[in-house]
Amino acid sequence: MMLDTTRQNQQRNPFAGHSAIWLFGYGSLIWKADFPYIERRPAHIHGWVRRFWQGSHDHRGTPEAPGRVVTLVRRPGVACHGMAYRIAPEVLTPLDVREKNGYLREVTRLHFDDAAGESAEGLVYLAGADNAAFLGEAPLDAIAEQIATAHGPSGPNSDYLLNLAAALHELGVEDDHVFALAGRLTGEAR
Ligand code: SIN
Repeated sequence: MMLDTTRQNQQRNPFAGHSAIWLFGYGSLIWKADFPYIERRPAHIHGWVRRFWQGSHDHRGTPEAPGRVVTLVRRPGVACHGMAYRIAPEVLTPLDVREKNGYLREVTRLHFDDAAGESAEGLVYLAGADNAAFLGEAPLDAIAEQIATAHGPSGPNSDYLLNLAAALHELGVEDDHVFALAGRLTGEAR
């Protein structure tokens, strides 16, 4: 099963006419910023948690053996920390292709971690529970096992998880879900 949300995302232009757009990254967009950006700042958004509940059939797995990557799941009262990038609007074109397996551009309020009280409206790529590549909740051991074995055109699924865990450590972000999974792969119990 291969999804492609590229065309849908191109219709989603809430910031049309803006010369620069804030984009919140919470997964690979934190540690794999291989796109041009004007500036980046650590930030968080309210009401969401990061979960390895999204299938990856195109980057970290295959249609036959999907990997698992992160999406956001609603959780009132908690914050999800990541990285905000200010980008030129045309940078969304390649990002729509990168995020095409079920992610949709959604508007969110970003709160910057380097300046208390400062916030901005921006975009986030969100893969909702209703997208065809959504895998949903599973026991942590099962998720870790799937990540340990999956491999796709962008490389091993384990690289995605371990790079994300390292980037969150570096940002000083505590994420029990990500660190527990990473610990299962590296043998460090958590
Ligand atoms: C993101 O990083 O913000 C979206 C999910 C991903 O590309 O890993």
